[in-house]
Amino acid sequence: MTIEETNGISNASFERAVQKSKLLEADLYKNPSKYRVLTGDRPTGNLHIGHYFGSILNRVKLQNLGVETFILIADYQVLTDRDVFKDISKYVFELTLDYLACGLDPKQHNTCIFPHSHIPELNQLLLPFLTLVSLSELNKNPTVKEEISVSGKEVINAGMYTYPVHQAADILFCRSNVVPVGKDQLPHIELTRTIAKRFNTKFNTNLFPEPVGLLSESPLILGLDGNQKMSKSRNNSIMIKATEDETFKLIKSAKTDSERHITFDPVNRPEVSNLLRLSSLCLGKSPDEIAKEIGDLGSGKLKQVTTEALNSYFKEIREKRKQLESDRSYVLGVLQDGISKARQVAIETLDEVREVMNMKI
Ligand code: TRP
Repeated sequence: MTIEETNGISNASFERAVQKSKLLEADLYKNPSKYRVLTGDRPTGNLHIGHYFGSILNRVKLQNLGVETFILIADYQVLTDRDVFKDISKYVFELTLDYLACGLDPKQHNTCIFPHSHIPELNQLLLPFLTLVSLSELNKNPTVKEEISVSGKEVINAGMYTYPVHQAADILFCRSNVVPVGKDQLPHIELTRTIAKRFNTKFNTNLFPEPVGLLSESPLILGLDGNQKMSKSRNNSIMIKATEDETFKLIKSAKTDSERHITFDPVNRPEVSNLLRLSSLCLGKSPDEIAKEIGDLGSGKLKQVTTEALNSYFKEIREKRKQLESDRSYVLGVLQDGISKARQVAIETLDEVREVMNMKI
């Protein structure tokens, strides 16, 4: 599949984004204190191991480098295309549990976790920002177009077209300069840069940085069907919080092929290779090495190795999650602290925004 086919981002602009991301990554390791990271997720359910290896692990690494990290839970954004509002507070709590269990740690590091619905000054930035983009720009956003087509809905609410502008407010309220994301989010980062540039030019200021998307290196993790990305909605995932027994059953049900000799061959044997890749991520050995060790012992052995690798890798994370689950007040305290920190930052930014827009009285 080409990039155009997946989400409409041209190869040339994707390549530019990759280059920018690489330069940024090199500098991040040298000068962590120059950067402020903001990233986030929609609270739509629990995180799976694809999320873990694809983004959460990277966030924990940045946090541990000493980079100031804002983790935003995009609860308003859920309203753009789903009817899950009854469950949102539960999902916010569950997502926070997943974050904390995986090692994001606001008590030990310069990290905060907060839902954006609780930061009025962030949300207010949406109003001036909406005046800096045209309807045709919003209509052209490839990620939004794809989400609309997947939703199959005939009537699309205006929030669906404008949420990328809201996302610019998410990123710019704290003047973040690094946004770790997957490539589907690149159009939103580009729009955020455009908004920052236009705002600064129009109001003759340098208030907003132009943030750069940090694309993580992690391999694409396929679902247990072996032919598409791991994703909750496709019902092919292993949740981070799954028990050992659930993990065993899920891996047992994973699709493989009839060739007994195990080899790592992602093109011709995507299902087998995906299990090898998962084992490799957990064991810190190459997929080829693991394939050689299994050799002629077939997919039964491969499944046993993968199950054991996952269960041992996630053991501590799952235990921590269990323990936090019963400490509700700790988890709510993390969110309260996150909200107060983010609000303070947002209040300062909105104050400066009013100043440069001549709206202070
Ligand atoms: N749009 C992102 C997603 O669907 C979630 C998100 C909201 C986000 N605001 C953000 C990601 C700001 C990065 C930065 O996953």
